[in-house]
Amino acid sequence: PQLIVVTREGEERAIEAETGLSVMEAIRDGGIDEILALCGGNCSCATCHVHIDPSFIDKLPPMSADEDDLLESVDDRDEYSRLSCQVPVTAALDGARVTIGADD
Ligand code: FES
Repeated sequence: PQLIVVTREGEERAIEAETGLSVMEAIRDGGIDEILALCGGNCSCATCHVHIDPSFIDKLPPMSADEDDLLESVDDRDEYSRLSCQVPVTAALDGARVTIGADD
């Protein structure tokens, strides 16, 4: 599926995401290096925070209690916030816009 990644500067970049990866990995593989992902995708750092396209938010698996807790540490959390390492790339996400969270 194709994802439209919105960088912190507001630039939109279309990337081809591979199913089986997390959205965090797909963004990195797409050559966008704004996601630190300090913990390497283990749901323990919150540096992979993104805002998901509102029209796609219900296509994602529900968040775990750990993800929810970590998102509490993020200043710009909103109802579309997710940790991108916890969101799998699926065909249902084709065309979704993913906005990289602020640098806390
Ligand atoms: Fe650390 Fe996602 S990479 S929580």
